[in-house]
Amino acid sequence: MEKLLITGGQSLRGEVRISGAKNSVLPILAASLLNDGEVILGNVPHLQDVTTTISLLTEMGAILSIDEKMKVSINASSVNKFYAPYEMVKTMRASILVLGPLLSHFGEAKVSLPGGCAIGSRPVNLHIEGLKAMGANIKVDNGYIIAKAKKLKGAKISLPIATVTGTENLIMAATLASGQTIIKNAAKEPEIIDLANCLRLMGAKIRGDGTSEIIIDGVKSLSGCSYDVLPDRIETATFLVAAAITKGELTLTHTRPDTIKVIIDKLKNAGANISINEDKIQIKVNSQLKAVNITTNPYPDFPTDMQAQFIALNSIASGKSKVIESVFENRFMHVQELVRMGADIDINGNTALIRGVKGLRGAPVMATDLRASASLILAGLVAKGETVVDRIYHIDRGYECIEEKLTKLGANIKRLPQ
Ligand code: EPU
Repeated sequence: MEKLLITGGQSLRGEVRISGAKNSVLPILAASLLNDGEVILGNVPHLQDVTTTISLLTEMGAILSIDEKMKVSINASSVNKFYAPYEMVKTMRASILVLGPLLSHFGEAKVSLPGGCAIGSRPVNLHIEGLKAMGANIKVDNGYIIAKAKKLKGAKISLPIATVTGTENLIMAATLASGQTIIKNAAKEPEIIDLANCLRLMGAKIRGDGTSEIIIDGVKSLSGCSYDVLPDRIETATFLVAAAITKGELTLTHTRPDTIKVIIDKLKNAGANISINEDKIQIKVNSQLKAVNITTNPYPDFPTDMQAQFIALNSIASGKSKVIESVFENRFMHVQELVRMGADIDINGNTALIRGVKGLRGAPVMATDLRASASLILAGLVAKGETVVDRIYHIDRGYECIEEKLTKLGANIKRLPQ
């Protein structure tokens, strides 16, 4: 397994271009299954999860091409297998996003039920119940969700939890259903708006995205479109923390500062100087960071996908802090690895209590999920000596060219072969 070797101590300086959002491109790729035209996507990040989704769509019979600038073109008119096998779903839970589009456009879908996950049990019951409310006949057999529907019907769906991919699956299913669908307590993440923007270009009738009530009026068919994916707010925020933790000075370009207001506020509270100019963010830190308290919650609150990175930051900031994880039940696997690097952290239920230490020491550590990997890399950048992060296939799922980008900014990081 490949590893990353980081020798800490360099302040990051320079300019970094932010890539397209993983959590936008995955539902948008799935949405290409809703029409027979050509969907052309720009700002697609080169990520393992994108490669997995492209393989999944190709296996189903879609025709895909990618140019050297990662412009992806998809034509799903030849799709004739409505199947997402366990082998794919187990490497990428977001494969569940093909369920709604397949069922709505082709009337059937067989999608492996995702299993447990390093960050919690992560059930998909709300995806299934929502589709059932739209008239789908769904059973779970041999670990597979087997769904059929001659024609989905619009429905009023009230989600007990504002699930992100659940909301996306239901929006996509509703675009081709007969009549109106109202999703109450919908997720409000920017990636939901991005998906809705792309679907509207295909001809879908959707309003209310970005609020907790989304209304979709079903249409007979959708057509192809050309669309550029939203910049990645979690990659943006991770680079901001990288600048802060190393007391550096970075300019982030091609991003969307409005999607990370809460992160910018937290970093300012921690002592960072931040200025925003349209799609650019500049950050400079030259004094000791102050620890900040955090509670994760759905958008627009603090994202769970930045919790691990802020624990790394708090671990070397001055003062005590409390980080409460409210979205996932088991998302603290990075903590014991940070403790091995000298961090002083106790876990009590869903709360991490962090006492800032003067510095971290390099150590061999193990990544357990995507954002945990980011947290360990951040810790490695500031630790004294060498940190070797194992199982970095997790990082390749969601951060484009991470070591190339960090190297360009002055980090001492290299990939060790298997
Ligand atoms: N939940 C249920 N039942 C369901 C669906 C969700 O109980 O049917 C619960 C989950 O167990 C969790 C909560 O609802 O406690 C929220 O989960 P959600 O469904 O919103 O998460 P998701 O859609 O599976 C997406 C992102 C995650 C991100 C979460 C929360 C994608 C592809 N994934 O997951 O991203 O952490 O929303 O914002 O969009 C990551 O990028 O590293 C990542 C894990």
